[in-house]
Amino acid sequence: AKKGFIFDLDGVIVDTAGFHYLAWKSLANELGFEFTEEQNEQFKGVSRVRSLDILLEIGDINATQDQKDKWLVSKNEEYLSYIEKMTDADILPGVLKTLNYLKSKNIPMALGSASKNAQPILKRVGLFDMFDTIVDGNHVQKAKPDPEVFTIGADELGVSYSDAIVFEDSIAGIQAANSVDMVSIGIGDPGILHEADHNFRDFTEINSTFLDQLINA
Ligand code: G6P
Ligand code: MG
Repeated sequence: AKKGFIFDLDGVIVDTAGFHYLAWKSLANELGFEFTEEQNEQFKGVSRVRSLDILLEIGDINATQDQKDKWLVSKNEEYLSYIEKMTDADILPGVLKTLNYLKSKNIPMALGSASKNAQPILKRVGLFDMFDTIVDGNHVQKAKPDPEVFTIGADELGVSYSDAIVFEDSIAGIQAANSVDMVSIGIGDPGILHEADHNFRDFTEINSTFLDQLINA
């Protein structure tokens, strides 16, 4: 059957996961507590609003909605200050080779990200035209591990869920893909992403033989 490939953005295509971490860490420090990279794992793939709630739980802080809205704005402003400096050099190693290979085979490709900043980031790094459809935080109601971002992507590509292949760096994203029987490929630490069907540290470990196997499965 026809296959479709769906890519998460932050931490898969571009190296922005660290920028999200820095911005949340600044907020935590401002509020008087530490926020570690280990704690940050559970923030990956999670919406901005939900991330703030988790952060405030870690710091044991209660706040009004009005205060929370202000922190959401300041976190995003700091994040955007990092994004503004991005260039195509911030595309992660091996990603372009994979995208270009799939493109050369006319394989349908979607972006599936929880981020509301996905489109400007893709434009900055020159990948806006690479995808047949972009499903991002502006389009979905339910955040990962709910599979909505990926099911909309597969629907728009016209492939059934079991013919969709998802690349993810987050536990929530792997769980989202698995919950609807998509092929899940973990990009990052295999110990953290052990629920994935396949694991790679980064795209330099992915070759055309492996991609062909996915396409022809
Ligand atoms: C991605 C990232 C998360 C981020 C979320 C929302 O899923 O992995 O760390 O919180 O997008 O991003 P945004 O750019 O809308 O704040
Ligand atoms: Mg991610």
